Amino acid sequence: GEVNPQYRLNYHLMGERGWINDPNGFIFYDGKFHLFYQHNPYDSVWGPMHWGHAVSADLVSWEYLPIALTPDMPYDKDGCFSGSAIEKDGKLYLIYTGHVTKPSEGGIDFVQQQCVAVSNDAITFHKLAQNPVVRTEDIPNLASKRDFRDPKVNFINGEYFMVLGSNDGAGRGQALLYTSADLIHWRFRNILAKSDGTLGDNWECPDLFPSGNSFVFMVSPQNVDPDVYQNTNTSVCMVGDLDVENGTFISKYACRMDYGFDFYAPQSTVDSNGRRIVVAWMNAWGSENPTHTLRHGWAGAMTLPREVVIRRGSICFQPISEIEQYRRNPFTMRAFELEGTVSLPVGGDSYELVLSLEPKDAAEVGLKLRVGDGEETLIYYVSNESTVVFDRNQSGIGPKGVARAPVKLDNGSLTLRVFVDRCSVEVFLGEGETVMTGLIYPSEQSTGIESFAKGTAFVRDLRKWDLKI
Ligand code: FRU
Repeated sequence: GEVNPQYRLNYHLMGERGWINDPNGFIFYDGKFHLFYQHNPYDSVWGPMHWGHAVSADLVSWEYLPIALTPDMPYDKDGCFSGSAIEKDGKLYLIYTGHVTKPSEGGIDFVQQQCVAVSNDAITFHKLAQNPVVRTEDIPNLASKRDFRDPKVNFINGEYFMVLGSNDGAGRGQALLYTSADLIHWRFRNILAKSDGTLGDNWECPDLFPSGNSFVFMVSPQNVDPDVYQNTNTSVCMVGDLDVENGTFISKYACRMDYGFDFYAPQSTVDSNGRRIVVAWMNAWGSENPTHTLRHGWAGAMTLPREVVIRRGSICFQPISEIEQYRRNPFTMRAFELEGTVSLPVGGDSYELVLSLEPKDAAEVGLKLRVGDGEETLIYYVSNESTVVFDRNQSGIGPKGVARAPVKLDNGSLTLRVFVDRCSVEVFLGEGETVMTGLIYPSEQSTGIESFAKGTAFVRDLRKWDLKI
């Protein structure tokens, strides 16, 4: 069908058409970033999952390649579900979940097994004759026989480590660890990590990677408390140690990866400079996405890729620096007292805005974005709560809601770095220790930007650039 351009993003990756969800197979290979994604090319709703494929030199401008995986084998006929990519002997390998539905008997209504495909040219992929390489009979006791998916493979300590999303069959999400020397023969090692009872009843899209002397474990739990996490689905990351001998992860601290509405199933890769980058699906199960209800012929986008850095002992997510090459039409306001509402003489629907301020005695201070006829999206600091609020109740059509993130002032000041792109808003606080991502659907004419304070605040610096590909 036709693709309606109304809410199409400018500097974020979407499918050319149809539906997309999770990022898959994110890898820096042969001088370029490859990003695959869960994709239904036939409709703007979830359906038979293919792997869409795009490449980029800078993580901002993407070129589409042909669909990499199609559900056409007996072991993946109802979907090539999420997974990862790895380079071995110069070749690009994709490791994914073959999904097959079964008439429901004894509660088992689908089978999920892990499969491998390989390519010589990074365009056409051949599924291995040995598939599935990790089968239902390889699932250990104390793990669901049905939810068994999203293999993320990393080379750690001279071996391939595969982490898989699972649950214990009794209401707790967990991740399983398998290892291999050749990507084909896999051995179950242990339950890598498990919910303490507060982190969902099933875990999806786990990822495990080294960071300095520690390891980071990221995962997307399902059916968490929506009063705590905004949605029933969320993404958390834990920093800790990997016990290679026992195959377990020892968490030292955990944090939310995003405090907004639309961030799920993040996946990481590392580039040739050792930079660790994370990208997520900029939506989430349970968060409505109007472009499919409107039948716009497409649905779903990726977040801005984010670099993972450790600052003052905490894990931070910063927009990749490549985005700065796309800044156009710089606008600056410096050192002024802010009281009430000030309309900026510039606006837009695709831009970056950096606001550095001292709240002083203001009860609330922040920004109104995509302002127009009765529409506005609010991002502001609340002094007595020490939170930043993302309010999309008057953003336009589409889902509503108010998200809150805890924030600490740094020497009395706060920096908000905001990325707006047609239907998306991403807010990075401080050095990226807190991020908020959400979709909004204002009308095209709502392009105003305002700054406001209840009380008097001091703006050190406000900078804005259009971002154009
Ligand atoms: C996460 C997920 C994965 C699964 C895929 C199916 O969003 O549910 O667990 O592999 O989406 O599209």
